[in-house]
This record gives sequence, structure tokens and C-alpha cells, in this order.
Amino acid sequence: MAASPGTAVFFLVLALVLLGNLRCCSCSQVYVVYMGKGLQGDSDHQHDIMRLHHQMLTAVHGGSSEKAQASHVYTYSSGFQGFAAKLNKEQAMKLAEMPGVVSVFPNTKRRLHTTHSWDFMGLSTNAEGEVPGLSTKNQENVIVGFIDTGIWPESPSFRDHGMPPVPKRWRGQCQTGQANSPSNFTCNRKIIGGRYYLNGYQTEEGGSSKNAIKFTSPRDSSGHGSHTASIAAGRFVRNMSDRGLGRGGGRGGAPMARIAAYKTCWDSGCYDVDILAAFDDAIRDGVDIISVSLGPDYPQGDYFSDAISIGSFHATSNGILVVSSAGNAGRQGSATNLAPWMLTVAAGTTDRSFVSNIRLANGTFILGESLSTYHMKTSVRTIPASEANAGYFTPYQSSSLNRTKSRGKILICRRTEGSSESRVSTSMVVKEAGAAGMILIDEMGDHVANHFAVPGTAVGKEMGDKIFSYIKSTRHASTMILPAKTILGLRDGPRVAAFSSRGPSSLTPEILKPDVTAPGLNILAAWSPVKNNMLFNILSGTSMACPHVTGIAALVKSVYPSWSPSAIKSAIMTTATVLDKKRRTIATDPYGKVATPFDFGSGFMDPIKALNPGMIFDAQPEDYRSFLCGTRHDDHSLHLITGDNGTCTHRASSSATALNYPSITIPHLKKSYSVTRAMTNVGNPRSAYRAVVSAPRGINVTVTPEVLNFENYGVKKTFTVSFHVHVPPRGYVFGSLSWHGNGRDARLTMPLVVKV
Ligand SMILES: *[C@@H]1O[C@H](CO)[C@@H](O)[C@H](O)[C@H]1NC(C)=O
Ligand SMILES: *[C@@H]1O[C@H](CO)[C@@H](O)[C@H](O)[C@H]1NC(C)=O
Ligand SMILES: *[C@@H]1O[C@H](CO)[C@@H](O)[C@H](O)[C@H]1NC(C)=O
Ligand SMILES: *[C@@H]1O[C@H](CO)[C@@H](O)[C@H](O)[C@H]1NC(C)=O
Ligand SMILES: *[C@@H]1O[C@H](CO)[C@@H](O)[C@H](O)[C@H]1NC(C)=O
Ligand SMILES: *[C@@H]1O[C@H](CO)[C@@H](O)[C@H](O)[C@H]1NC(C)=O
Repeated sequence: MAASPGTAVFFLVLALVLLGNLRCCSCSQVYVVYMGKGLQGDSDHQHDIMRLHHQMLTAVHGGSSEKAQASHVYTYSSGFQGFAAKLNKEQAMKLAEMPGVVSVFPNTKRRLHTTHSWDFMGLSTNAEGEVPGLSTKNQENVIVGFIDTGIWPESPSFRDHGMPPVPKRWRGQCQTGQANSPSNFTCNRKIIGGRYYLNGYQTEEGGSSKNAIKFTSPRDSSGHGSHTASIAAGRFVRNMSDRGLGRGGGRGGAPMARIAAYKTCWDSGCYDVDILAAFDDAIRDGVDIISVSLGPDYPQGDYFSDAISIGSFHATSNGILVVSSAGNAGRQGSATNLAPWMLTVAAGTTDRSFVSNIRLANGTFILGESLSTYHMKTSVRTIPASEANAGYFTPYQSSSLNRTKSRGKILICRRTEGSSESRVSTSMVVKEAGAAGMILIDEMGDHVANHFAVPGTAVGKEMGDKIFSYIKSTRHASTMILPAKTILGLRDGPRVAAFSSRGPSSLTPEILKPDVTAPGLNILAAWSPVKNNMLFNILSGTSMACPHVTGIAALVKSVYPSWSPSAIKSAIMTTATVLDKKRRTIATDPYGKVATPFDFGSGFMDPIKALNPGMIFDAQPEDYRSFLCGTRHDDHSLHLITGDNGTCTHRASSSATALNYPSITIPHLKKSYSVTRAMTNVGNPRSAYRAVVSAPRGINVTVTPEVLNFENYGVKKTFTVSFHVHVPPRGYVFGSLSWHGNGRDARLTMPLVVKV
């Protein structure tokens, strides 16, 4: 259960003491005490580390060794150093002042990045089918860790037929839970690791029976973890469907890659201290890529008071790429998982829709979206929900509807922006009131398809107006809702999904976030049968977009095993496209506006091109150190974080803009500014690339040199991009710099983002 051998002992003690000490719970809470890279590695050090942490805790507990033990929750000692403990504010502040401590922050609950998780019952994508049929031979050497809700090991998506033995370098574990209990868990050659992290969750919420712990093992009771893992690395399943919708063959991006599940998320969410323990283990276990479909609420805290930023920093320093979701808040500046060492993913659409039409009694059909497959036999009386309210109008809460007025009718409900009620729970209220169905006028217009509890379908505002005009035009309005079906090509794709969180970065505006876009709307993938006995389900969210990129990252890693995390990231970003299938700039939902890099980053991922980028923008751990120097981290905390003894030399000149990132953002351009980048040749040994600029409006952009000649593989060449204000534009303006090579498809593009 615990991160390290000694922790289990600590934890047992914790459980006992807490029982006798409950009245103190209000004054203390769990904190992370983060101590940077610190002492590393071998088991001798492990002991020293434990002792040091114990001394620190004893000191803030007035010298009481027992109290120190009782307060301890986790030790982090593999990928980085620190611990988690139950403390009061005063003790936390004392610890923050101690030498060796980088930051102390409260154990915050993080959310899975499915938009309104229960709401999301969506459908499938054909993106898996687009993954190229290249040689998959080396995929079985790529190990992907998922920090999520666990995994359902018996799912057809995780069968291990035809897979060779587990790579020898793998140091992970399979925490099997109890045989013959429903928690039992088994690994195979596909799922090669499974761990679970309960300490933080139990310490914070263990007492409340509402959030009972389901499966004390890596087994997934939610479905989310099985869904994300199968999108990235699920085996091919011939007959996959969600109650018949989206039927067909389906598979993950890298179907032969190995999976290690780190279960940190429980019914009500995921706590920082558990997430950190998972990163700590994953780094030691030997994963190649970590996929994190969860994140903080925006605005995100500083990089070193956020578990995912810290964990991914140390993962990256150990050569592990961390792919994360940008969030589902939809608004400008709401993107999270902002650290430049992560690959942050926005959600886009595909060309597949789940349509459930409404037939008005006058013969007109109205297009709606839903996953409900109920068959209504006849049209029924249709009224606005407001006409069925029970005298007082608290919309859509139990007992807000008058059963007499609702019975047997279709109710028209409205969902406005910022509405907190989930769409599925609205349909449950409608069902409870005895209604026959529901038409949901959803002003969010995000095209998320749902499994409603009654025959139900969602329409946008425009169609909603049409339905209301029909109802007003007749005394006995009646409608019928038809069962959902799968339709390809209804709307042009890809578009950026309405819920996908947008840039700019609220923390470091010099780094463009999100980085790239992948399908995240109505995605069909594996599920936990605990929920509705379904083996597959359709969900939407940046949670689903993230593992699409994880899967392709695993493919890139299988073709280029020696590539650094930033090289893989660069390959995926520079080859992304900003054009939809009709060769127009990608638009965004809900209103069809032309999307910008704040919506899609570098663009929509192109799996085939990502496998052959020609050039990469590489960055090493030292480069992230310089980045941190340029973003107000002092020498002392940098020493602790990175474990080296360099100093911030070019503090004045180094800035976040200087990081060798595959995009350029200048948030405060005065008159002119120059940025240098370095490209490394990973394509043809002899190649030439010519710069082609599309300048942001009102800005003159020059690139020197305009042509880069490479004579060898692995050669690195620098170029400078100079920005001059010509006509000062208002707000952010966008352009791009492309490098066109001599090969047919040799082309890479980086977004240019400027604000004067
Ligand atoms: C393990 O748990 C699963 C799911 O609850 C169950 O179907 C299976 O029979 C169990 N296996 C054993 C050996 O107990
Ligand atoms: C696919 O599964 C469904 C049941 O979910 C079954 O009715 C159908 O015959 C299957 N099709 C194939 C080709 O196996
Ligand atoms: C519900 O509606 C019926 C019929 O219109 C009415 O008689 C009854 O008083 C209503 N009940 C409440 C609680 O408003
Ligand atoms: C049915 O009603 C709708 C909404 O009022 C209207 O747009 C449509 O033209 C009508 N269809 C027919 C056949 O009258
Ligand atoms: C750090 O300092 C030690 C001596 O204090 C020196 O031996 C070592 O090379 C230095 N390491 C780096 C990375 O500068
Ligand atoms: C920008 O380009 C325009 C048109 O080529 C030119 O007239 C102008 O002088 C340039 N301005 C600067 C500041 O370079």
C-alpha cells in the first residue's frame, strides 16, 4: 500500500492514534513537505532519509517521537525527497523554515478531467483507426504509467495474448489485493504493474461513510482509469460498442505497449500526497511515459506547491515524459498543468456524432445529441419544465417537479452557462417525476453526448427556439424522441471542444499552453463493469484527449528509444496541424469561431507525421533549471529542487522565453525582441530547411538565418526570430513560423504568439 518499506509501519500507527485523537482533526490537516531532489537512491540512504524526516517531525511536535510517527502519512525518497504529515498551521510554518525544505503546501484534492464526470457518457472516435500501421515491434518495450482510478484487469482491452515476457528492467510491483475478494487484482504481460495509494484519501475522508473505499487494490471501480489506459494502449477489440453505439473495432494508440496502473483517485477525487507517492514509485519502477488525466482547478498554484508539477519535474529529469490534460473549464486563461516540462493536451472533436432526433407532431425532425437508446412508441404531450414545477421553482432538484403535471409527458429543460447541475442528474429528476422523456436545451452547445435516464436528447439554443416556437403554435404540442444512432461526417472536424481549457498560461505567460490537441469528445473505450455492467463506455473530456497523445508518444518512443521527453514532445507539437479536414483553420465550439493557439496550442495531433518530424527542439534538465532561474526561483531553492550546485548565472537575461520550446510566446513586447531557438536534425543526414513566416498582425518578424543546412544526423543549429512592432495591435495576435525541408513532407511549424 505504501510508497516505501517503512511507511506501512508509520501508517498502522497513524490509524491507531487517529482513533483516540479525533477531536483534534479540525485544527490539523495533511501537508506535503517537499524537499527537492535531495539524497537519492540506495537503501542506506533510504534509512537516513526516514530518520531525517522523523527528526524534523519530532522537532515540530515538541520533541515527541510518538506524535511525530502518528502524524506521518508518506515518505517520498525515490524520484525526489519529502514527506506528507498531518500538521497544524503553526507546525507547517515551522517546517517551511527548516533547511532543506523547498515548499510546504496543504494536501489539495485534484479532479479527474472528464467534464462533469457523471455527465460524460459519450461515444467513440475513429482516431484509433488513424494510427499508422508502422512496425510495432518495439512497443512492447515501452512502459506507460497511468496515475488515475486504477484499471479493470479482465477487460478485453487489456488481454496479453501474443505479448512477450515483461521487460527485465521493470522494477514495479503488482499489489494483488485479496484473492477471492472483489478487490482481487492480477497483472499479466499487458498490465505489468498495479499499485494503489490510500493514505492521503483515507486521512482526509476516511471517516465519512459517504465516500466508502471501493476496492483496496488497483482495481478500478470508477471506469475512468480503464478508459484512459485503453485509449493510450488498449489491445484491439473486434466488437466494441456502448450499447450498440459506435460499434466496430477499437484499439489504443500503442496497443502493444505495457501498462502500469497507479491508483491515486478514489470516489471523490485524488489527493496531492497520494499523487506524489505514485510519481515517486513510477520513477523508480522504470516507466517511460506517465499519463495524468487530472489536474488542479484553475488558477493553478506555483510549480513547487503542486503535486503534479513537482512529480512531473522529477520524472522529466529522469527521462520520463509526462502527458497531462489541460482541464475542462473552457474559459480563457483556465488551462492547468502549465509546467513547461509537461505535454499539456486540449480536447478536440472527431467527425463522429451520436444523434437522437426529435420528431415534432407536425412532421418536422429536429436534430439532437444523446446516447440514449430507448424506443418511444408514440408522440407524447410536451411542456416546458417550468410549467410542471411544484409551486416553488428550484430547477431540477428532487421534488421541484409536480408529479401530477409531469407524468407521461416530455419535459423541456434548459441548461445555461455556469449551470452546476449535471445533465444526467437533470434527467434523473425528470424520471423521478414520472415524465416520459426530456428535451434538454443546452446553451453550452458543447456536443457532449450523454446517457440520459429517460428517453432524452440535447439541442442547442437555436434548435431550442424552434421547439418553443412549435409549442407556442399549437394547443397540444407533442413530440417523440428517437433512439440514438451513430453518424459520421455530420459536422466538420476536428474542432476544439467547448469545454477544453484555454490559454494563456496564468502562471508563466511566456510558455504557450495547452501544447497540442487530440480527440476528447464522445470517445468510446474500456470501462469498469462495476458501473452499469458495461465493458465499454463513451466519455468526453481533456481526460480522454490526454491518453490519445500518450499513445502516440509511446509509439514515438518505440521508434526512437533514446529520445528525451522534450524530443518526443517536440515531434508531436511541430507536426500538428491547424487545418481541419476541409483545409480551413480549425474552429472552436460552441460558436464556430476560428481557433487560436490559446485553444489548440500547436494544433491537432498528426500521429503519422509525429513519427517522422525531421527536426526537434530539445531541452535538457539544465534548460528547465535556467527556466526556473528566469522565473523568480532563487539559487537556494533551485539547489534543493534539482540537487546540483549550479547558480543562476544569466538571471538578468535569461527568461522563460529563452527555453528551447517548440512555440514562441512574447506576452510583453515593447518595441522589438529577439528569441533564439535550436533545432536538432533527426531526419535525413543532409537536409536544408527554409523559414516561412506568417507574421502576427501588426508585427514584423524576421528569421536569421533564413536557411539552415544540415550535413549530419544529430547536428544542432540555432536561429533567431526577431519581432518588431509595426502597427501596435490590441490584445494577443497570432502567427506561425514554419520550416520547409527538401523532403516531400518535411515541414515543421511553431506558433508565434505576441502581445504588445
Ligand atoms: C476477482 O474479482 C472479479 C471482480 O470482482 C471477479 O469477477 C473474479 O471472479 C474474482 N476472482 C477471484 C479469483 O476471486
Ligand atoms: C457484437 O456484439 C453484439 C452484442 O453486444 C452482438 O449482438 C453482435 O452479434 C456482435 N457482432 C459480432 C460481429 O461479433
Ligand atoms: C400539482 O398539480 C396538480 C394539478 O395541477 C395540483 O392539483 C396540485 O396541487 C399540484 N401540487 C403541488 C404540490 O403543487
Ligand atoms: C413545424 O413547426 C416548426 C416550428 O414551429 C416549423 O419550423 C415547421 O415549419 C413546422 N412544420 C410543418 C410541416 O408545418
Ligand atoms: C558541486 O560541488 C562539488 C564540491 O563542492 C564539486 O565536486 C562538484 O563537481 C560540483 N557539482 C557540480 C554539478 O557542479
Ligand atoms: C515593417 O514592415 C513594413 C512593411 O514591410 C515596413 O514598411 C516597416 O518599415 C517595417 N517596420 C519595422 C519597425 O521594421
